[in-house]
Amino acid sequence: MLRSTSQIPIIWLLLLLLLSTIIFERCNSMQFAKCNEKDRSALLNFKLGVDSPSSNRLSSWSINEKDCCSWKGVQCDNTTGRVTALDLHQQYLEGEINLYSLFQIQSLTYLDLSLNGFTTLSSFDESHDYNHNLSNIQYLDLSFNDDLHLDNLNWLSKFSSLKSLNLSQINLQNQSNWFHIMDMLHASLLELRLSSCHLTNIFPSTKHVSFTKSLVTLDLSANNFDSELPAWLFDLGSNTNISHIDLSFNVLQGQIPKSLLNLTKLEFLRLSNNELNGSIPDWLGQHQNLKYLNLAENLFHGSIPSSLGNLSSLVDLSIGSDFLTGVLSEEHFFNLSNLETLVLSAPISYDMDSKWIPPFQLQGISLSNTNLGPKFPAWIYTQKSLDYLEVPNSNVSFIDGDTFWKFVANITQLNLSNNNISADLSNVILNSELIFMDHNNFRGGLPHISANVIYLDLSHNSFFGTISPLFCHKIGKENSLDYLDISSNLLTGKIPDCWEYWKGLSFLFMESNMLTGELPPSMDSFIDLIMLDLHNNSLSGNFSLDLSNLKNLEFIHIGENKFSGTVPVQMPHGMEVMILRSNKFEGNIPPQLCNISSLIQLDLSHNKLSGPIPKCINKITGMGGEKKTSHFPFEFNLYAKGQELQYLDYGLLRTLDLSDNNLSGEIPPQVFSLVQLQTLNLSRNHFTGNIAKEIGNMKNLESLDLSNNKLIGEIPDTISTLSFLSFLNVSNNNLVGQIPVGTQLQSFDISCYFGNPGLCGAPLAWVSGVFVVLYSSTGLGGTLISDSLIMSWDLPTEAGIGDRVHR
Ligand SMILES: *[C@@H]1O[C@H](CO)[C@@H](O)[C@H](O)[C@H]1NC(C)=O
Ligand SMILES: *[C@@H]1O[C@H](CO)[C@@H](O)[C@H](O)[C@H]1NC(C)=O
Ligand SMILES: *[C@@H]1O[C@H](CO)[C@@H](O)[C@H](O)[C@H]1NC(C)=O
Ligand SMILES: *[C@@H]1O[C@H](CO)[C@@H](O)[C@H](O)[C@H]1NC(C)=O
Ligand SMILES: *[C@@H]1O[C@H](CO)[C@@H](O)[C@H](O)[C@H]1NC(C)=O
Ligand SMILES: *[C@@H]1O[C@H](CO)[C@@H](O)[C@H](O)[C@H]1NC(C)=O
Ligand SMILES: *[C@@H]1O[C@H](CO)[C@@H](O)[C@H](O)[C@H]1NC(C)=O
Ligand SMILES: *[C@@H]1O[C@H](CO)[C@@H](O)[C@H](O)[C@H]1NC(C)=O
Ligand SMILES: *[C@@H]1O[C@H](CO)[C@@H](O)[C@H](O)[C@H]1NC(C)=O
Ligand SMILES: *[C@@H]1O[C@H](CO)[C@@H](O)[C@H](O)[C@H]1NC(C)=O
Ligand SMILES: *[C@@H]1O[C@H](CO)[C@@H](O)[C@H](O)[C@H]1NC(C)=O
Ligand SMILES: *[C@@H]1O[C@H](CO)[C@@H](O)[C@H](O)[C@H]1NC(C)=O
Repeated sequence: MLRSTSQIPIIWLLLLLLLSTIIFERCNSMQFAKCNEKDRSALLNFKLGVDSPSSNRLSSWSINEKDCCSWKGVQCDNTTGRVTALDLHQQYLEGEINLYSLFQIQSLTYLDLSLNGFTTLSSFDESHDYNHNLSNIQYLDLSFNDDLHLDNLNWLSKFSSLKSLNLSQINLQNQSNWFHIMDMLHASLLELRLSSCHLTNIFPSTKHVSFTKSLVTLDLSANNFDSELPAWLFDLGSNTNISHIDLSFNVLQGQIPKSLLNLTKLEFLRLSNNELNGSIPDWLGQHQNLKYLNLAENLFHGSIPSSLGNLSSLVDLSIGSDFLTGVLSEEHFFNLSNLETLVLSAPISYDMDSKWIPPFQLQGISLSNTNLGPKFPAWIYTQKSLDYLEVPNSNVSFIDGDTFWKFVANITQLNLSNNNISADLSNVILNSELIFMDHNNFRGGLPHISANVIYLDLSHNSFFGTISPLFCHKIGKENSLDYLDISSNLLTGKIPDCWEYWKGLSFLFMESNMLTGELPPSMDSFIDLIMLDLHNNSLSGNFSLDLSNLKNLEFIHIGENKFSGTVPVQMPHGMEVMILRSNKFEGNIPPQLCNISSLIQLDLSHNKLSGPIPKCINKITGMGGEKKTSHFPFEFNLYAKGQELQYLDYGLLRTLDLSDNNLSGEIPPQVFSLVQLQTLNLSRNHFTGNIAKEIGNMKNLESLDLSNNKLIGEIPDTISTLSFLSFLNVSNNNLVGQIPVGTQLQSFDISCYFGNPGLCGAPLAWVSGVFVVLYSSTGLGGTLISDSLIMSWDLPTEAGIGDRVHR
């Protein structure tokens, strides 16, 4: 009994096992039958062109896996086992698209290889009369393979049933016949997208264009078309089904033609960022099906027609031109009950009744470069589901204190930049995620912020008092602040030690205030900090923070303060920009700075540093190695070429400025191996010795200042090979001999060679044995002529240009 009861289940178990194996085998063999062998080998052929290692993404495409219908991206017809679709978008694939093999798959109707990194396409050998029937392909998307090189598009003409074609972001610069090739696709095409293809001449004068007949979607945006709007597009006749036209970001000119009215099914029209002129036509109001109308960034004149208020289907409206005039009234909106976003950028005025209740509830409002003010319009308060509210540059000066801040509290993005709003925010709690309130006249103490705020720009206002209200106001939970700009205000007092709540900060700008005292020790706990700008304040004390744990810090500017002690060396090794100019730092240039190999800008000028330039300076490979743009292209002021210049992206500059210190010794030739430097300023120190000929290696140098040192010897010939040099100053040294001959060297103002008694040659001029110091462009003094002995000239090193010189 005991035996039998224990054995029966085991037998059942074995049976079950056997059964399941059979079922499993059968399933397998059924699937095996599904995959067509010809299709399978065509797919394997295609895979051969895909570069390894990117082909790892196709690891399921293996010789061992017989059922190609289960391979990644492959779809088959369940009954015939033929491959019908291949979708491999965004798989990081590189190498060659072997179209030739894919087209052996005769039942293929859908092919999507977009968003990859393919670089070549092999199609058909034109010399063979290749007779594959490609009439089954209906959907072809090769877009966003940015480096894909296409020799020609002739192969496209074989696709006689193509319904959707997308070649966006592929360079078709040389396909001047693209238009005719599209025309060979006959009347089947429904969707055509050729955005960002570098297409130029587009619109042939011929009116007989057939590929557009059946089109529903046409996207030719972001090309270089610079003609008028094409007649063929609007002469399709009233049977056309076209509903979506995007011609934005071209250079299209002229007026919007009235034949646009023929496109009665039009729902989406984007003509923004062109040079269209004339007026915005009144008859646009008859386009009753329009849902999306974008005419922004054009050159339209006249006023905005009130007929647009008839577009009752409109969801998105965007209009912009610097030349529009007139007044916008309630009539412009009277039937726009479906409107969700309104974007207007034009110097127009608004005349809405203060009791007006619009027919719409918007999600987004952007009214910029406009004369909306002086009062913030009442109708905006009727919009209860706003996600963003942007009214920058709109001449607004009054907002209704409490009401306004309560109203905006739940709006995600708020942009009030560049108005003239003067309000006291010291009792306000800001709550939006992204807040732009810079360039206004906000006064009083800083506002409080809630834990929701991610981005806050309060710069260029008149906030005063300390920054404690903003930072030391406890909000009781983890806050989200990532970007804070309170620069260019009237803030005073010490930087408070309240940073423990703000550890998520990545960008902190507090420059150009009147902050005083030492930096609080907790400031080195910002482990996410990327940029820190404290310049132009009155901060003092030793800079003793240990920033070496801030692994992401790329930019630190503490110039124009009163910091003292030695140059801080506890800096992260990934730093790119370090500006300490105009402080009271003393001691040597620490060799530890050479370990910050990624530095691209180092400015220690106007301090009290002494000793030599460390020879290890050539280890700063950021200044010598390959150039890349910065991750964060912020606008940035830099001293170069003898003046303060504004650059749009600090990452594009390579600078070493050690000027106006007490540095001495010879300039080590290692400095000249920083071959990516564009600006090198060693002026106003006590450097001695020769200028090494290696200076000729600095092929990118644009600005070189070695003036006011004690350099001797000749200017090396190699300097004449610096072909980008546009600013040079070697004045007030003891250089001798001929100025080397090179185009730029002779074209510089002579003042840049002054004060080197032994220097001669153009542009310093000889006039019949008499040395003439010419007027310099900046000089005020008279012409000085010596009678003979030029070498004995004795120009005081501190002499300004035009000073009288005594022999
Ligand atoms: C074909 O197979 C797929 C995947 O197994 C399934 O989703 C689909 O319903 C099947 N179609 C037919 C017509 O059987
Ligand atoms: C291609 O196939 C379609 C149908 O699939 C057929 O109508 C057409 O005649 C074929 N063309 C050629 C050249 O075989
Ligand atoms: C290419 O165009 C088609 C048709 O309009 C569209 O469905 C597809 O999303 C586009 N591809 C990409 C990568 O945007
Ligand atoms: C276009 O042709 C020019 C001249 O033949 C060539 O230099 C350029 O690389 C070509 N551009 C593309 C995208 O094929
Ligand atoms: C427009 O679409 C309808 C319905 O799909 C279709 O019958 C008609 O042929 C299309 N018109 C054109 C010009 O393609
Ligand atoms: C509009 O643009 C066309 C083509 O550039 C030009 O000829 C015409 O003078 C412009 N008209 C106005 C009113 O600016
Ligand atoms: C519509 O197109 C036809 C044919 O090109 C043209 O005669 C007619 O004037 C157009 N209608 C409008 C309103 O432009
Ligand atoms: C807009 O609608 C009004 C009122 O229905 C009508 O009088 C006017 O003609 C319409 N304008 C256009 C351009 O359709
Ligand atoms: C506003 O549009 C609706 C359709 O959405 C229409 O019924 C109504 O007549 C329009 N009103 C005016 C005044 O045109
Ligand atoms: C701004 O508003 C004031 C009135 O507050 C007005 O005088 C001024 O002309 C407006 N400026 C612009 C550029 O519209
Ligand atoms: C806010 O407005 C300013 C001024 O027009 C503009 O520079 C900035 O890009 C806007 N910010 C956003 C996020 O739109
Ligand atoms: C803002 O949102 C909160 C919670 O989502 C809600 O209680 C409050 O009423 C909203 N305030 C306004 C002014 O819409």
